[in-house]
Amino acid sequence: MVEKSLVFIKPDGVSRGLVGRILQRFEDRGFTVKELKLFSPTDAQIDGHYHEHVSKGFYPDLKAYMKSGPIAVLVLEGPNAISIIRKMVGVTNAGEADSGTIRGDFALTTAMNVIHASDSVESAAKEIANFFV
Ligand code: CMP
Repeated sequence: MVEKSLVFIKPDGVSRGLVGRILQRFEDRGFTVKELKLFSPTDAQIDGHYHEHVSKGFYPDLKAYMKSGPIAVLVLEGPNAISIIRKMVGVTNAGEADSGTIRGDFALTTAMNVIHASDSVESAAKEIANFFV
């Protein structure tokens, strides 16, 4: 089934110059880039995206991280995009992510895990609407 996923490279990934290499992995795998922009999300967009986490203790640090610089936001499309992209990204705790995944190759911690990818078709639709008005 052809699906769309909302992916963003977080501020540390952008400032470290990883956008090209990460995007290359998705293009090499065969995904189509449907949308692409570099921008600084608003408070409302960050709170909306992380609505499940806004009451958690780590949220102020997460929000500060997301406001520390621009993010590169992508909509990628392809067969089974949600599950394949999540495998390519690796687990949330980058310290436990397998080598060969994006987090396993480019990040060390949960707090600065370099990339986000949608976890379901329903989440992707909401996340795309939040970032591409
Ligand atoms: P992400 O996959 O984008 O979705 C939720 C984000 O919250 C996650 O990546 C991390 O960046 C962050 N996060 C989740 N749990 C923690 C935690 N325990 N401490 C700090 N950041 C967290």
